[in-house]
Amino acid sequence: MRIGVLTGGGDCPGLNAVIRAVVRKGVAVYGHEFVGFRDGWKGPLEGETMELGIPQVRGILPRGGTILGSSRTNPLKVAGGVDRIRDNLLSAGVDALIAIGGEDTLGVATKLAEAGLTVVGVPKTIDNDLGATDYTFGFDTAVQIAVEAIDRLHTTAESHHRVLIVEVMGRHAGWIALHSGLAGGANVILIPERPFDIDKVCDHIKHRFASHYSPIVVVAEGAQPAEGTMALQEGELDAFGHVRLGGIGQVLEREIQERTGFESRQTVLGHVQRGGTPTAYDRVLATRFGLHAIDAVHEGDSGVMVALHGTDIVRVSLAEATKQLKTVPVERYAEAEVFFG
Ligand code: F6P
Repeated sequence: MRIGVLTGGGDCPGLNAVIRAVVRKGVAVYGHEFVGFRDGWKGPLEGETMELGIPQVRGILPRGGTILGSSRTNPLKVAGGVDRIRDNLLSAGVDALIAIGGEDTLGVATKLAEAGLTVVGVPKTIDNDLGATDYTFGFDTAVQIAVEAIDRLHTTAESHHRVLIVEVMGRHAGWIALHSGLAGGANVILIPERPFDIDKVCDHIKHRFASHYSPIVVVAEGAQPAEGTMALQEGELDAFGHVRLGGIGQVLEREIQERTGFESRQTVLGHVQRGGTPTAYDRVLATRFGLHAIDAVHEGDSGVMVALHGTDIVRVSLAEATKQLKTVPVERYAEAEVFFG
C-alpha cells in the first residue's frame, strides 16, 4: 500500500513521534510505502508532497513541531475541494490517508471518509478537547510548560507583592488552565466553560493578600466575564471560523489593579506552550497512537480515530470523536475551586 500522512491545525509536541511510529512500523512490519503531504489539508488540496521513509524519520522522536508542516487550510471551504483531494491522492498513487490533527483537521477527515476516501485519524491538540479519547498528545507537554512558568511567577509575585496573571491557551476548553492551575497552586483559575464574576475574583485576591501570600491567577485565553460585567475586544476569524484570541490577561490586569488597588501584571505564555520537545508521556502516547493508526490502515479500516481509553489504545468512529468538544465538567472545576482564595 501507499499511504499519505499529514499534520493539520495548530502544531503540538509529539507530532513527529506519531509520524516516526507510523513509518517505522509501516515499512518494517508491513512493507508499505509513504508519502508526506505538506502543511495540513493544503498538501492534498494542492498536491504538495514530500518524500517520507525511514531516513526522513530518523532522529525526530524528541523534536517539537512537525517535519510535514501544518496549516489551518479548510478544503471544505474551497469550491470542489473534496474532488481536488480525491484527484491528487489518485495521481500520487495514495490508497489511504493518516490525518493527525484536532477537531478541525479530523472534522475534515470525517467528511472525506463519508465521501468514500480511506482515512484514519490520530488525535492531537494541546487543548485536550477532542471527544472520544481520554487524552490527546501535546497536552501533557503544554501543562508542564505552564506549571514551570507558574512556579517561577510565584517567587517574583511574592518579592513584589503583586498579582500575577498567567494567560494560557484554550479557546473553548479550559483543560490547560485547570491542570496547570491545580498543579501550580493558582489562587484562581478562569476557564471558558464558566463565565467569571470579576468581583469574586477580586475577593479571592484580597483574601490571598490578607494571608500574606501573593496571588496567581491562571486564565484560559477563551475565558469570558459573566454577561454585562466587563467588555472584551472582538478578534478576526480563521478559515474554520474561530476567533483569534488573546487579550483576556491584559483586561484582567487592568480591572484587578483598578478594583483592588494591588499592582497587577500579566504574562501571556502563547506559543511557548506548543513549542519544543515533548514530555516522555507525550512521546509514549504519540508513539502508541502511531503504531495503532498504521495497524488500522493495514487492516483496511477507515473513518476511525485511534483513542486512549484508560491505558488502552482503541479505535472509535471519527464522526463520534468530532461530534462534540470535550469541555471541563462542573465537578472537575469544583475540585479546583476548593483552593481558590
Ligand atoms: O488548537 C490549539 C491552539 O494552540 C489553541 O489553544 C489556540 O487557541 C490556537 O491553537 C492558536 O492558534 P494559532 O497558533 O493559529 O494562533
